[in-house]
Amino acid sequence: MKKILVIHGPNLNLLGKREPGIYGQLTLDKLNQILKTAAKKEKVSLAIRQSNHEGLIVDLIGRAKNNKFSGILINPAAYTHTSVAIRDALAACGLPVVEVHLSNIHARESFRHQSLISPVASGTILGFGANSYRLGLAALLDLITVK
Ligand code: DQA
Repeated sequence: MKKILVIHGPNLNLLGKREPGIYGQLTLDKLNQILKTAAKKEKVSLAIRQSNHEGLIVDLIGRAKNNKFSGILINPAAYTHTSVAIRDALAACGLPVVEVHLSNIHARESFRHQSLISPVASGTILGFGANSYRLGLAALLDLITVK
């Protein structure tokens, strides 16, 4: 069974309570359950991690290939706009990467318009709330499935 690494970046542990007008009412646990159900249907397994720490996220990405993951689904959250370290780790990881965002970052404050991650991701899905993750997982599975 193929394994996918799902990474939620900083403050996504607060989903449901955090600015619900922007990020929705769904908690991270509920979102993870939706992802696990989708993964089960597709017969892939998910390892889901959330961290508020940049270095920890870099380490997770750096070990992903050795840990036999086939791809990475990541919402880098605020690190999207600041982290050269996460970008470099993703560029070096040798795996397909799909970047997702709950909100449409281009319709928000100008400091959110730039993603340092998008140029090294296989693709990006944003603006669909929790569905961005579901669509992102489908896109990633499409990329890693040999047809
Ligand atoms: C986010 C968008 C980022 O700008 C923000 O810092 C987040 C969440 C999103 O999913 O919409 O924490 O990545």
